[in-house]
Amino acid sequence: MSDPTYTLADYAEAAAFVRSRTRHQPRVGLILGSGLSGLAAQLANADVIPYAEIPHFPISTVAGHAGRLVIGEIAGVTACVMQGRFHYYEGYSMQQVTLPVRVMQQLGVSVLILTNAAGGLNPGFVTGDIMLIEDHINLIGMAGVNPLRGPNLDEFGPRFPAANRVYTPRLRALSLTSAAEVGVTLRRGVYLQLSGPNFESPAEVRMLHALGADAVGMSTAAEAMVAHHAGLEVLGLSTITNVAIAQLEATGQPSHQEVVEAGAVIVPRLTALLLDILARLAPLL
Ligand code: HPA
Repeated sequence: MSDPTYTLADYAEAAAFVRSRTRHQPRVGLILGSGLSGLAAQLANADVIPYAEIPHFPISTVAGHAGRLVIGEIAGVTACVMQGRFHYYEGYSMQQVTLPVRVMQQLGVSVLILTNAAGGLNPGFVTGDIMLIEDHINLIGMAGVNPLRGPNLDEFGPRFPAANRVYTPRLRALSLTSAAEVGVTLRRGVYLQLSGPNFESPAEVRMLHALGADAVGMSTAAEAMVAHHAGLEVLGLSTITNVAIAQLEATGQPSHQEVVEAGAVIVPRLTALLLDILARLAPLL
């Protein structure tokens, strides 16, 4: 079976459905990673739309990902929160994985905040750290699994988009200010996206670090690239839920349970950081 390709009309249809189900006009999109979806509960006057009801939306299959769009008010902004994202390893194409980003753009969202769970590659990182994504290595995209492959939709952006300044400089600066304000140590680094679902072998971990990556995960770069292509400002935050294992004889093993548990511990700090970021963003929208 060939992958579905979406037309502008498909994205517009999904956006029109969402619009018909909410009182709000969202300006900020938020995609919450594994174990991080609790933030959606903080939205005031929330309208909740299960993915299953939205035309063309795939259905999230991973534990820790709720599978619904929550639209409401938080810290002075109107936000559209994806409580659970789609991953390539679930069997979806990259076009399916990134469909919600274009739907949010059609809804009028101009800033996309991406969060994820990631393994730490930088030896200075420990479990529980939060990393501001300064840049990415879209390894799976470079290998050909790229959401922008196929007919270009000029209405979103150009055939050959630039990939520098994907993570908007003013949002990175704003986040560092917020981190200092709320007392959260914010690491900075390069996020590398793989397909998953397996965690990395020790040799892969050493290779990825040698390539220049500080954190590794199974999402985000593709979504960030599609958002940038569509003219959105992008902010990326990785939660370091485990330290990737680089030594052949190490006995510990990363697991999804560990990722979700560490996520829960990080959530209060990530929430404090995000609330301050949103509050600073509000007057700029
Ligand atoms: N590797 C890949 N993806 C991840 C990891 C990891 O160690 N931790 C959380 N997501």
